[in-house]
Amino acid sequence: MKKIKLNISKAASFLSQGAVQAYEPKVKAAQQALEQGTCPGNDFLGWLHLPSSITTAFLQEIQDCANTLREKCDTIVVAGIGGSYLGARAVIEALSNSFSWLVQDPKNPTIVFAGNNIGEDYLYELSQYLKGKKFGVINISKSGTTTETALAFRLLKKQCEDQRGKEEAKDVIVAITDATKGAARAAATKEGYKTFVIPDNVGGRFSVLTPVGLLPIACAGFDIQALVKGATDMEKETGVDVPFNENIAAQYAAVRNGLYNELGKKIEIMVNYQPKLHFFSEWWKQLYGESEGKDNKGIYPSSCDFTTDLHSMGQWIQEGERTIFETVISVEESNHTLLFPSDEENLDGLNFLAGKRVDDVNKMAELGTQLAHVDGGVPNILVTVPQLNEYYLGQLIYFFEIACGISGNVLEVNPFNQPGVEAYKKNMFALLEKPGYEAESKAIKERLQSEQ
Ligand code: PA5
Repeated sequence: MKKIKLNISKAASFLSQGAVQAYEPKVKAAQQALEQGTCPGNDFLGWLHLPSSITTAFLQEIQDCANTLREKCDTIVVAGIGGSYLGARAVIEALSNSFSWLVQDPKNPTIVFAGNNIGEDYLYELSQYLKGKKFGVINISKSGTTTETALAFRLLKKQCEDQRGKEEAKDVIVAITDATKGAARAAATKEGYKTFVIPDNVGGRFSVLTPVGLLPIACAGFDIQALVKGATDMEKETGVDVPFNENIAAQYAAVRNGLYNELGKKIEIMVNYQPKLHFFSEWWKQLYGESEGKDNKGIYPSSCDFTTDLHSMGQWIQEGERTIFETVISVEESNHTLLFPSDEENLDGLNFLAGKRVDDVNKMAELGTQLAHVDGGVPNILVTVPQLNEYYLGQLIYFFEIACGISGNVLEVNPFNQPGVEAYKKNMFALLEKPGYEAESKAIKERLQSEQ
């Protein structure tokens, strides 16, 4: 079986001689701290050996539940936000036909996402779309109290019950939440929904390989066993005993910290050349953004879809402020072959490409861009994925997770908390006059008045 590969040569060349190697002691210490559970946030290390601990029986339980939903539903709404949403969407979009949302596939339910925003039009249009559909709901929330998800679930539950009747709705609503706490658990217990538990020691953004990601992915018709196998293989490849120079997670963590500390490269752009990977970048941004952006530190994770964004952000990347570096996900083999035809008149002047694959052109765009950006002072990290399938996505997921755990520790932050996300919630609840927020409501009203 092939492996994903990492090439840091076009990033390391920007650093002083031996700079990446110099991170070895810090990276090793970070790996050991993760392994021994002595790092900050050590009560959230359940993801570390998660892939290798998933049993066949557990995967079967998830698959059985997915099969029931697939049998009973033409549409499945996955309600969740942040870590309770992005991993599933990343994998489903990476593996789905790009136009699957336009037609109802007779073999697979349509998967739609909700609970990740409070857009009134979005929720109204979703309710219209679901009218007459035999839809089910997977309600995902670790805390069980996240406003965006809880609001969407309230609407979805009512519509599902109205359309299918309470008894039938009960069989097509699944909750993935805390074992005991939270409103989602309370509702599931009262209504008798099938439930899966998000382990206490796995934070949202590291939870894609728990039922949070696995159930929606299985519902979409993808092979969760292969996904977990890919992650398990990467768990071995990036283990604490693998030498620094052979460990791609250690290398990635080292080089990005080197670029940040030595050269002040404060922005990392995750780049893909396959539109299907758009949401993989969204997942990655959450993983790194929430893990590293704290204590007034951290590389800002951003993303671009190339070649699309070369026609917008390409200018900035080539010639803007030199505070960026790129991490490119390159897919070696497309899943389909499409050749450019020859044209007798050659009005577009493209006959020089006749007989070539579309992917040949994409690859030259990729190489040309890499050379241009490196020449323009943008360090380039290259992650090569043999093919877009469940197995390699599993590898990729675990690679970025373990590298994130290591990198956050090298940066000397707690990569497993997210205290900063509470600030907006507190203000929103105060403004909405949520019971229990009376003092905050008063204070925020006074502040708004004084700022008028
Ligand atoms: O990574 C995280 O912890 C967060 O992004 C959460 O996943 C997100 O806020 C959703 O939380 P919950 O699952 O409690 O609804």
